This record gives sequence, C-alpha cells and structure tokens, in this order.
Amino acid sequence: AQYWAILPAAGSGSRFGSETPKQYLKLFNKTVMQHSVDRICQLPIEGCVLAISANDSTAQSLSFAQPDLLHWVTGGAERMDSVLAAMQYLQQYASAEDWVLVHDVARPCILANDLQHLLDELKEDAVGGLLAVPVRDTLKRGNAGQVVETVPRDHLWQCQTPQMFRFGLLLKALQQAKVQQQLVTDEAGAIEQLGLPVKLVSGSSTNIKITYPEDLGLAAAILKAQLE
Ligand code: CTP
Ligand code: MG
Repeated sequence: AQYWAILPAAGSGSRFGSETPKQYLKLFNKTVMQHSVDRICQLPIEGCVLAISANDSTAQSLSFAQPDLLHWVTGGAERMDSVLAAMQYLQQYASAEDWVLVHDVARPCILANDLQHLLDELKEDAVGGLLAVPVRDTLKRGNAGQVVETVPRDHLWQCQTPQMFRFGLLLKALQQAKVQQQLVTDEAGAIEQLGLPVKLVSGSSTNIKITYPEDLGLAAAILKAQLE
C-alpha cells in the first residue's frame, strides 16, 4: 500500500480573527502552512494534496521543501468538504487499500517521531486511526456558569491529526456523511458512522492546533524547543 497526504487549508480562521488567515502567519522563517507541509512531506508519501479556498492568492506563491509532491484543489464550506474534495481528486491515483493521512495545516508542530509512531501502529490495521492524547485536566459539565457535575476523564482522549485511514474506507465514509448530512468534525467521526473500529495512537501534547491568537506564541515556543 502507498501513502498519500491531505492538508485541509481552506479555513478562514474566524476564531483567530486576524486579517491574514492564520495559516499564512509567520513562525520564524516560514509560515504556519510551510511548517506543516514540509513536515508531512518528510514521510514516504506519493503526493500531498492541499485544499485551499477559491480566492487564495498566497498558498501557491510560497516555497516548499518538496514542491514536486504537491497537488492543489479548491476546498469547500466545511473542513469535511475540503477533505472530500481532496479525496475525490486523489481517486485518479490512489487504490482502496492505500493509506491517506489527513493533517490540519494549522498544526505546524507535528513531530517526525509521532508521525512514525502512527505509521508503525497502524501498518497492519484494516481501517486506521489517529493521534490523540489522554485528557489531563479535570472536566466538569457546566450550565449558566454553574457546575452541574464532574465528568470522569478516564477513557477520554483529545483528538489531533494526522488521522490516517485506508483510502477506500475514508472516501466511502465521507461520501456517506455528506449524503446523510451528518456533521462530522473529523475523519474518524465519519469512519465511526460506518461502524468501523478506529485506533487511538498516543501522540504529544505539543501537537497543538493554532485556533486563537495566543496559540501562535505557544507554537513558536514549541518549535523553538524542538530545534534545541
Ligand atoms: N479547513 C478547511 N476548509 C474549511 C474549514 C477548515 O480546509 N472549510 C481547515 C483549516 O484551514 C484548518 C483545519 O481545517 O487547517 C482545521 O480547522 P480550524 O482549526 O477550525 O480552522 P478554521 O476553520 O480556519 O478556523 P475557524 O474554525 O476558527 O474559522
Ligand atoms: Mg473551523
């Protein structure tokens, strides 16, 4: 089986709220997008599909470490639509049993070690799985500023990307979710709807997603520490 990557990058970063979309902000010498793409392209992949928004004039002018691996598609209204567009594009190249890794372009701190761990853990799997970390804080359900109850955190995981699945299964899962108008916020969610088992693979808490402005400084500190 061969490996492919998809990087959804068609979001507008509404929670971040900057004029420049968050994926084009700089972390040291490169944009968030260049960090994420260059790290994923160090894997033994056949190609990497970037889903960008229709009015994006920045992405294709950036330089990347492995430009020959890159393919571009236009994303959609929701993250799932962007991933589905990239999957439909990949149909011309990928076989059903190939692997596809979907990674948020907003996660530039992904470590080579964690990527290798994901590949190793899922190698013999028939379906796939994702990087995740156990919830570490105490969780409480709240309502109108009052604690309703403490939610036991055993068995709870915070999910990251990459999420890695067999190409044929993920395509079927996303197409079905689309037709049935299910709101799935990650690839695993679509696979779960098919009733298929999804593996949790231990990742690192440093694989943060840049969501709010304060996350940019955090990502800078993480990248700096990784290079030391
Ligand atoms: N994404 C996408 N297409 C969309 C929405 C999101 O490709 N229609 C991508 C984003 O570019 C990002 C990833 O999915 O890399 C994770 O999404 P998120 O962190 O939510 O980014 P945004 O949707 O851009 O941010 P927000 O939800 O705050 O608007
Ligand atoms: Mg979003």
